[in-house]
Amino acid sequence: MKKLIAGNWKMNGSLAEAASLTEAIVHGIDQDHSLLDRCDFVVCPPFIHIETVFGTVRELSHVLSVGAQDCSKFEKGAYTGDISAGMLTDIGCTHVILGHSERRQYQDESDVLIAEKAQAAHGCDLTTIICVGETEQEREQGNAFDVVGAQLAQAVPEGSNAHNTVIAYEPVWAIGTGKTATAEDVKAMHQYIRDKLKEKLADFAHVRILYGGSVKPNNAQELLSVPNVDGALIGGASLKADDYLAIADSAPTV
Ligand code: 13P
Repeated sequence: MKKLIAGNWKMNGSLAEAASLTEAIVHGIDQDHSLLDRCDFVVCPPFIHIETVFGTVRELSHVLSVGAQDCSKFEKGAYTGDISAGMLTDIGCTHVILGHSERRQYQDESDVLIAEKAQAAHGCDLTTIICVGETEQEREQGNAFDVVGAQLAQAVPEGSNAHNTVIAYEPVWAIGTGKTATAEDVKAMHQYIRDKLKEKLADFAHVRILYGGSVKPNNAQELLSVPNVDGALIGGASLKADDYLAIADSAPTV
């Protein structure tokens, strides 16, 4: 399976920075086609920068997909401030991140809400990147597997399959902290996630499971070589084209 190298830009950058970052990424991939043999690429800018990113990608859209960081559970109507899944498809997005721990924490998002959003997204042909992960306290208390198992059970809706669903394991304590889970911990959790998917999805073996949390050029090779790590969801390092491309270049040959 090719690795999915996903950039989550979060709430960062100006319009000009979004354009220049996109330009540098697309140029970098286009310079080295061996990257495309090993990886698929998606970036998830802030909503308001998406159109500019598309404008910059232009005819190279086959090298870089574009996604959003959230969508509404509603289809349309009087939902002030919301962006629907259909609007994302309409503008050309192919992916949407759902249930990121920052939205769980700051917007109080529940697994039930995430499943509703995922269902709306699947209905509009978007691939959902559904995030799961335990807090530091949950890990210290020995509950990491139970927490992730419960998140998967509730947040991944009926109708999910390997085509429309990607799971991202992001231990909350590793996000933006410079701490990463050990390769052994990642291996155990990704195997556990695969086993849980088996209970739910016929094509569980083909669902991509990404690791996220302080993925950098200096640890990407080790993380991307772990069994059942099918790519990375990258925050801070995805804001630097060189780092993002270097992470991709760490992907093993398929
Ligand atoms: P960092 O790579 O900055 O730790 O962020 C990870 C993340 O939250 C990606 O969604």
